[in-house]
Amino acid sequence: MNQPLLSIQGLSVDYVTNQDVFRAVDKVDLDIADNEIVGLAGESGCGKSTLAYSVLNLHRPPAFITQGQIRYRDTSVLDLPTASLDRFRWNEVGMVFQSAMNSLNPVVRIDRQFLDVLHAHTDLTREAALARAEDMMRLVDIPVSRLRDYPHQCSGGMRQRIVMAICLALEPRLIIMDEPTTALDVVVQREILQQIHELKQRLGFSVLFITHDLALMLQFCDRIGIMRQGRILEMGSRDDILHRPQNAYTCQLLDAIPGRHLFGRTWQWNQTEEAAL
Ligand SMILES: Nc1ncnc2c1ncn2[C@@H]1O[C@H](COP(=O)(O)OP(=O)(O)O)[C@@H](O)[C@H]1O
Ligand SMILES: [Mg+2]
Repeated sequence: MNQPLLSIQGLSVDYVTNQDVFRAVDKVDLDIADNEIVGLAGESGCGKSTLAYSVLNLHRPPAFITQGQIRYRDTSVLDLPTASLDRFRWNEVGMVFQSAMNSLNPVVRIDRQFLDVLHAHTDLTREAALARAEDMMRLVDIPVSRLRDYPHQCSGGMRQRIVMAICLALEPRLIIMDEPTTALDVVVQREILQQIHELKQRLGFSVLFITHDLALMLQFCDRIGIMRQGRILEMGSRDDILHRPQNAYTCQLLDAIPGRHLFGRTWQWNQTEEAAL
């Protein structure tokens, strides 16, 4: 790999509570290249969100990063001063949080929510910011007229795509998605992931995609890390994980996927069969 966009090395995160220290992330290494979709799969509680928060240096006590470093291009993220962190968090690395569709302010129209973010993080004029908001709505396939709606007037899938659109409006190089579609039904889930994939081809960004759903990840990611109890047990290309798993736990996760034998044939992105789906 050329110089990775993001490089996490030997990262440990501890939760320190009443004399007790719980290590949620344990000496994790993880690289993400430009334009790459990297997945992180593992059961609930294995440390996925804790790792994601670390990339943006978002931890507050009782969470402490106790070892390791995070490099974004030539920048050491953990050494960034507060003033630069804010810019880094939105303009370089965007995050779509778990159940993000509920993160829109219910009493504020959608166009206002775009404008607030764009004004806080860019020098765009009001007109240019509105034009950007309209472009982003088109990108995620939502009628521009919806900008005048309140979030509750939109479906869950639509709200999730709007949150993505707001995140993309700042043109980050890396987007962290923490269980972005867990609350959605499988058809909408697939539509949204397909859309992220297409947007990535057009706009060029990298994704760290986090989910407990390995089947979903196998459709969507270039490389996949299998996480358990704070450690990355195995990291490999989608094909390696699917066909040549090295770790017994990976095998267990694969065995738990219904219809796994169909994967190679029908569940691949960017394949000719996709046209037929
Ligand atoms: N505020 C906290 N205090 C103590 N332990 C925590 C706290 N937040 C998370 N943890 C623990 O850290 C571990 C990892 O949590 P998390 O990163 O949220 O896992 P995941 O996102 O994989 O479900 C879990 O065992 C959880 O109980
Ligand atoms: Mg989580």
